[in-house]
Amino acid sequence: MIKESIAKALSEQVNAEYYSAYLYLAMSAHADRAGYKGIANWLFVQAREETAHGTHLYQYILERGASPVFKDIKAPELSFSGVTEIFEKVLAHERYVTGLINKIAGLAQEEQDHAGYNFIMWYVNEQVEEEATADELLTKIRMAENYPGLLFTIDAELGNRTFVDPFGGTAG
Ligand code: FEO
Repeated sequence: MIKESIAKALSEQVNAEYYSAYLYLAMSAHADRAGYKGIANWLFVQAREETAHGTHLYQYILERGASPVFKDIKAPELSFSGVTEIFEKVLAHERYVTGLINKIAGLAQEEQDHAGYNFIMWYVNEQVEEEATADELLTKIRMAENYPGLLFTIDAELGNRTFVDPFGGTAG
């Protein structure tokens, strides 16, 4: 059985991951409507990954004998000035999520929940990758700001991303 404080924090993280999915879908829609189909694809795949992250947390809460708590998922921002702003916000959001995940890891340590700590460490490591990827894409997009040809190439590259369930299942 998991401690109530940890179950609560994990439920809040389910909500945060689904919010991330919602945010990235809003960004994907914006990119799609602006004609950046590859960037839209990358963000859409990102949204599916976030859903998988949330679903995996949800399954873990149940596995540890607790009841997930469901709250409203807030509406994401809907308007962006362009793809540079989108990736600035992706990076800022991932940094924010890293903070949330680190708090859960800290709580699991405090509560001496070794299994919970081990579980959340997957997310700690994932956040390193999430931030690095967002940072790299933002740098590339900033470089392409004044070179439409370069932006076109980046867009085409991001169009190749496909969804792979990070947990090897069918979630997302
Ligand atoms: Fe669920 Fe973008 O990390």
